[in-house]
Amino acid sequence: MKGIVLAGGTAKRLYPVTKACGKSLLPLYDKPLVYYPLSVLLRAGIRDILIIVPAGLVTPFADLFADGSAFGVSITYLEQESPRGIAEALILGRDFIGEDRVCLVLGDNIIYGSALDLSLRQAAARQEGAVVFAYPVADPRPFGVIELDAAGRPLSLEEKPAQPRSHYIVPGIYFYDCQAPQLAASLRPSRRGELEITDLNRLYLQQGKLQAIPLDRSLGWHDAGTADSLLDAACAVRDAQRSSGKIIACLEEIAYHQGWIDTAALQRSGQMLQDAAYGRYLLQLASDRKGKTGKSNICR
Ligand code: DAU
Repeated sequence: MKGIVLAGGTAKRLYPVTKACGKSLLPLYDKPLVYYPLSVLLRAGIRDILIIVPAGLVTPFADLFADGSAFGVSITYLEQESPRGIAEALILGRDFIGEDRVCLVLGDNIIYGSALDLSLRQAAARQEGAVVFAYPVADPRPFGVIELDAAGRPLSLEEKPAQPRSHYIVPGIYFYDCQAPQLAASLRPSRRGELEITDLNRLYLQQGKLQAIPLDRSLGWHDAGTADSLLDAACAVRDAQRSSGKIIACLEEIAYHQGWIDTAALQRSGQMLQDAAYGRYLLQLASDRKGKTGKSNICR
């Protein structure tokens, strides 16, 4: 399975902070925002990854991740000229996806908690159609909203409805079969001029090929669309990390846990970042693991 992080967009709701660097490079507490969606792909076991970045911003993203080998994955980059909609990611990524299935994660999607692994495994196991997640929130109006029947089957999807039919929103993680680029290319721009991901998901729903997986309420999920939600998310990550002593979305740790990098690689990354708490955490992890076997008890 391939993975795409969509980290384009102009993020005008966050101007002037995003004017020069886009949103996904902003700090979310102790690491750039893009670490969080990337961590979801790594946790899903996906190693072939495309990051779609705003026009002119390949260099700073490549400075962060290079070819991905420090995390045991392959990362390539592609520019989105202008924000024509989330579904455009699948059109831009058509050659990259080829005949494979793909997981698309939005660049401002922050989700963490140990219960996520099971849901990701469930979604990745589905060979045909599309899979979205359903997460309950108090005010679903600013999001894509999904209505489920008593058996948890999807009934309807609406983008930012004034009167939502349910409290379940669709977070920015989507699994598709190889039909997705072709279906995305058939979409027309919405009233706000974008190729809507909700319209693509509705096409799968109409074909009876959309599965919805309710996410465990214990998971932390944040959308970083506004200055307030960005700050709230940063505070939540800080609090969760402080109370657990574990770093959320620590890419090297996930790669190590997946068996993609060894203790020596963990140590090398730690040494490069040793002036920061993140680097010292990696060094600690490497020294704890030396001579030990078995899975780490990590908070991701
Ligand atoms: O956060 C989940 C929600 O994300 C879903 O529930 C909605 O169905 C979905 O439409 C989306 O809503 P948003 O209003 O949050 O989308 P936004 O325009 O803020 O874009 C989300 C991310 O995708 C953001 O990091 C920028 C990136 N993006 C967006 C567009 C439209 C791009 O990279 N390119 C684009 O063309």
